[in-house]
Amino acid sequence: MKTYNIITYGCQMNEHDSENIAGLLEAMDYQFEEDAFKADVVVINTCSVRENADKRFFGVLGQFKKVRTHNPDFVLCVCGCMPQQPHIVEKINKQFSWVDIVFGTQNIAEFPELLEKRISTGRKQRSIIDNNPVIDEAEMKPKRMHRHKALVNITFGCNNFCTYCIVPYTRGREKSRVMSEVIREIECLSADGVKEVMLLGQNVDSYRDPAGHTFADLIRAVNKIDGIERIRFMTSHPKDISDDMIDCFRTCEKLCHNIHLPVQSGSDRLLKRMNRHYDTTRYLEIVDKLRAVCPDITISTDIIVAFPGETEDDFEGTLDIARRVRYDSAFTFIYSPREGTPAAKFPDQIPDEIAHERFDRLVDVMNRISLEKNMEYKGKTYDVLVEGVSKNADDTYAGRTDGFKLVNFTSDKKPEEIIGTTVSVLITESKTFSLEGREIT
Ligand code: 5AD
Ligand code: SF4
Repeated sequence: MKTYNIITYGCQMNEHDSENIAGLLEAMDYQFEEDAFKADVVVINTCSVRENADKRFFGVLGQFKKVRTHNPDFVLCVCGCMPQQPHIVEKINKQFSWVDIVFGTQNIAEFPELLEKRISTGRKQRSIIDNNPVIDEAEMKPKRMHRHKALVNITFGCNNFCTYCIVPYTRGREKSRVMSEVIREIECLSADGVKEVMLLGQNVDSYRDPAGHTFADLIRAVNKIDGIERIRFMTSHPKDISDDMIDCFRTCEKLCHNIHLPVQSGSDRLLKRMNRHYDTTRYLEIVDKLRAVCPDITISTDIIVAFPGETEDDFEGTLDIARRVRYDSAFTFIYSPREGTPAAKFPDQIPDEIAHERFDRLVDVMNRISLEKNMEYKGKTYDVLVEGVSKNADDTYAGRTDGFKLVNFTSDKKPEEIIGTTVSVLITESKTFSLEGREIT
């Protein structure tokens, strides 16, 4: 029996692509091997959103150089966002000659053919296309990482061209899947025991299928699917979020009370330079509307510090919006220039020292707010969908509240009877990034 392993970096799109790749390999009778260095086929699914992802990737490639000396049949494959950049493919071809197959984000369906060709001819395979008009998602049979929750693509690519971001270049132009196909996929997932779906797109709010269905229409349709208990989505864009979508938090009882709403910066001047198409006034207006419709909604965000030209004043604006919104959690990033994006050529790049100093200040503010918010949970009881055994201790389970808070809790139940069910948990302790509690029966 031949074996495979997949190493995945980056976002949930990549995670889902890896699920699809695993499905294709298993259909070819490959079996999963826990230890990547022992597998016959290794696929590295890469991310290029920030520079440290690049560095890590090339380090990992180096580690696989020697595998063929003890396994002559070993096949090393690279896919994901990195090979969508011509200079990266050039570097792989020149400096990492032991890479057998390289394929792009829009060539996943072709992978079995590339693998067979590599094995039968011994020749290296490269397949990267820029803008595949065909969305072959419906033909995929993903090997899902979780039994009770599933990732579902609704759009591919991105048309927004935020000036810092590489994604529109690596994932191509935005395409929406046909609504009826998304619904059919989720109906099948539900029949398979899935209770929670995460609808995925770089900008879910710009979803529009050929029949004119909007993202709000899609949520309402998913809300009607029997067996699905929770609907989540990611990522929202403040420039495209509609009142109709916000109203779904009132009308769709399965829609989780949680939103990831990247703000990126609290400076109107920088938001313009980032090409984000909203200002802080508009952003705060959306937050107010969300909270008016759904008072207990939890909000998370992405923030970039030290974007080119960021002054102390701009940065204060970011701290200010963070304090005003009081985010439940935040992903904070130091700006990282990406070759080929407009911002990489902006003349006023911020020195590392200032970037790190601002980053630390922002993280301090964000963490303090997260902890304060989590303190409000203590002593209250929440429904938790149990995902598995806790990472930290064997006798503890981990799950999420409707608002996406991670809860580690104790229960007398056995894993097979509790995982995948929704239980009541009394919160006994609040931490910055998680809650602790015990099941109430
Ligand atoms: N530098 C730093 N952060 C970035 N992001 C995207 N591109 C960059 C970059 N060049 C962040 C944004 C985005 C998140 C997924 O990654 O905040 O929302
Ligand atoms: Fe990148 Fe902006 Fe598209 Fe998000 S919306 S993927 S940040 S270009």
